[in-house]
Amino acid sequence: MDSVDALAELIRETGCDTVVAAGGGSSLDCGKMASAVVLQGGSAREYHSGDRKLDGKRLPVVAIPTTAGTGSEITSIAVLDDPSAGCKAPVVHTSLFPSIALIDPVLTVTMPPGVTACTGLDALSHAIEGYWSKNHQPICDIMACEAVSLVFSHLRTAFSEPGNLVAREGMCLAALLGGMAFHLPKNAAVHACSYPLSSRYHLPHGAACAMTLDHFIRFNAQVLGERGVKLARAAGYDDLAALADAVSELKRVMGLPSRLRDVGVKADELEWLVKASFHPLMENNPRPVSAEDLGLLYRRIYQEE
Ligand SMILES: [Fe+2]
Repeated sequence: MDSVDALAELIRETGCDTVVAAGGGSSLDCGKMASAVVLQGGSAREYHSGDRKLDGKRLPVVAIPTTAGTGSEITSIAVLDDPSAGCKAPVVHTSLFPSIALIDPVLTVTMPPGVTACTGLDALSHAIEGYWSKNHQPICDIMACEAVSLVFSHLRTAFSEPGNLVAREGMCLAALLGGMAFHLPKNAAVHACSYPLSSRYHLPHGAACAMTLDHFIRFNAQVLGERGVKLARAAGYDDLAALADAVSELKRVMGLPSRLRDVGVKADELEWLVKASFHPLMENNPRPVSAEDLGLLYRRIYQEE
């Protein structure tokens, strides 16, 4: 939040007329939000946790992602963390669409393996959540399945061979299609749960999504029917149980945490975590999630062997 306000101030002071935002999701979101705040006035905080609404005014933004996951370069979303309020949440408005997205896989070859893993799992989460969101629609479904297929074809190679441009290009396309797949339908339970995991326990966004992704694939499987089989097949598996196992394996191979107790969560904080996870995106989940369901799921993730 403070970065957005500081950037807006810098833009004001220097009289810049265009914002070029290069970097990962946080950098892009910061540039996007500052480009609007600088013309609309006030602090980013007022639009995030206050009642103030964004209007259409903003400086042009050129978004250049150097990771492959966020999708921020083509969405109208800026996820902002307000540590003083303990709140990490998205701001959504059409004024946050970048004017231009420049996506060049060469810019991602220096991404460290850990960031490749996290951002890749974010792209996968976008594709899967866009697909199973209650608001899913046919064109986004097609992009989601293609993005899932690309992640399973390229992520492990991009992780183990950072200079492999075929894998990097595949992941850039997966991130782009994943972003387009969830943008209209919006994300669901996995992203709702990721916000408190990031804001309180400082898990990178993709690792926070990955923490629950395999578990929600199992949880949602019973309501997805044939659509679930189609999603699993896009990844190269016969059913969602196999897809969930493959996601668990992907996390293990790439060194992403799979237990809540390994990322600083204490047993007596699980109740808080359940409450904090009920962001409005939870409503998009195809299978209703009760506090009891989530408590069980978190206890399982906390204890997992
Ligand atoms: Fe995400």
